[in-house]
Amino acid sequence: MKRVAILISGSGSNMVRLVEEMQDGRIDGRPVLVLSNVEGAPGLRKAEARGVPTATVPHADYPDRAGFEGAIQTVLERAEVDLICLAGFMRILSPEFVAKWEGRLLNIHPSLLPLFKGLHTHRQALEAGVAVHGCTVHGVTAALDDGPILGQAVVPVKPEDTEADLAARVLKQEHKLYPAVLAALCRGDMPKVALLT
Ligand code: GRF
Repeated sequence: MKRVAILISGSGSNMVRLVEEMQDGRIDGRPVLVLSNVEGAPGLRKAEARGVPTATVPHADYPDRAGFEGAIQTVLERAEVDLICLAGFMRILSPEFVAKWEGRLLNIHPSLLPLFKGLHTHRQALEAGVAVHGCTVHGVTAALDDGPILGQAVVPVKPEDTEADLAARVLKQEHKLYPAVLAALCRGDMPKVALLT
């Protein structure tokens, strides 16, 4: 069974979905660590309530990225982690850290990559006038919001949508897509999950 760490910075709703599916036995993985770079991130309490060990490594406590990532690496090794899921983790990881974990490091991004990398993806989608939008789970490589696509979920964009409407519609699909991709990976498959609504 894969030992899974989930890295968060905020509310942790994707993390909760991954933890629930593992704890209910629908994913052949075990949530061994939820790590946040933000002290008091709401997701930490949610993880504790589900009995998952948590750690906080505040990036501001370290003089540079290498120091911060060294501290994260120590915590991950101590928890004997096999696989890392980034889920709303708002720090860019260095090529050196990514190289250590390549093939075992996933991220969820709220757009249909390669469209709309970076921040404010729902605003970018509305401004571009696209008819469909969605989210992507991908393997992490040194380039930002890049790497092999392991799954995508598509939602419609409605004419009256605000950024918040679109974000909520996409997040609902994120909660289905991320567990589906992690389940496949934990079975030993190299997934290409497509969720079409
Ligand atoms: C999600 O939209 C995720 O795609 C993005 O950050 C958000 C995190 O939400 N990277 P949550 O913390 O999982 O609720």
